[in-house]
Amino acid sequence: MKLAAPTIDAVRAAAALIARRIRRTPLVPIDGGHLKLESLQPTASFKVRGFFTAALAAPHDRRAAGLMTVSAGNAALACAHVAKYLGIPCRVMMFDTAPQAKRAGVERLGATVIPLPFQELLDWMTNERWHDEPELFIHPFADEAVMTGNGTLALEILDQLPEVDRVVVPVGGGGLVVGVAATIKAIRPEVEVVGVQSDGYPLWRDAFQAGGPVSLKPNTIADGTTGPFTGAMFELLQDHVDRWVVVPEGDVRRAVAELAIRGKVVAEGAGALAFGALSMLESRPGTVAVVSGGNIDPGRLAELLSEYAATLSG
Ligand SMILES: Cc1ncc(COP(=O)(O)O)c(C=O)c1O
Repeated sequence: MKLAAPTIDAVRAAAALIARRIRRTPLVPIDGGHLKLESLQPTASFKVRGFFTAALAAPHDRRAAGLMTVSAGNAALACAHVAKYLGIPCRVMMFDTAPQAKRAGVERLGATVIPLPFQELLDWMTNERWHDEPELFIHPFADEAVMTGNGTLALEILDQLPEVDRVVVPVGGGGLVVGVAATIKAIRPEVEVVGVQSDGYPLWRDAFQAGGPVSLKPNTIADGTTGPFTGAMFELLQDHVDRWVVVPEGDVRRAVAELAIRGKVVAEGAGALAFGALSMLESRPGTVAVVSGGNIDPGRLAELLSEYAATLSG
């Protein structure tokens, strides 16, 4: 499978197509840069941008049997939301370790969850088993329409902060960062694009060091960024990401709490990754960190806040 990065014309068309169905999320200043709050989208992540774009671009008869995706959680929520909006059914394959908040959210939206163990789900994806299913399958990242929809986030950043000179983006499968980078660089090629992962799942750093496929077992609270290696994304990431930052898992945990207490923002682990990376970068006011999602289990949030409180009192 060969994939092309989105063109700026396609991203502009997608922005017009989905404008009424998503939110233009706020860009707020913090120490060391700005936060783009995609945690405030419907279903609390950027994923609705790509899923609306892909579903609306498909011919009616292709989506008549419904939508299907495979997900660590947020793509499932977005897919279920879009299917409900369009009045069609939805089924999602999810890791059986997905946070309860995400699974319950998907079911509340009327979609059917098919839970599978981590490796089984990766095999399902690697073997592209969706071809055996009747629904329109929307790949959560390795899909040109999804990446195009993700690019609409970058159009907003360019509009909200014309002097942006660096975007810091959490990376799982890579669809978010490729969509954002292709869009920003089409207009401002000099803007630096930083890809971020946790050291509990540094898939792409390891893949670039190895020069090819690697497989890691995730050990991170940033469950949204535990997508598998994909050859087509490897090439796109090579072309679009200027710099990689791997944040120690302890700092990811702290970043969730700091965002809540200092930033007044509720983020999940993956959503806090880019903010967590800011202290590892030289400070520049034109920096934007994408807070990509806010779906965190209340128990997990409480645990991270207690950990943080202990460091303050100790
Ligand atoms: C909150 C959050 N951030 C970042 C990502 C990473 O996006 P991508 O897989 O397109 O790299 C995801 C993916 O599910 C996510 O849910």
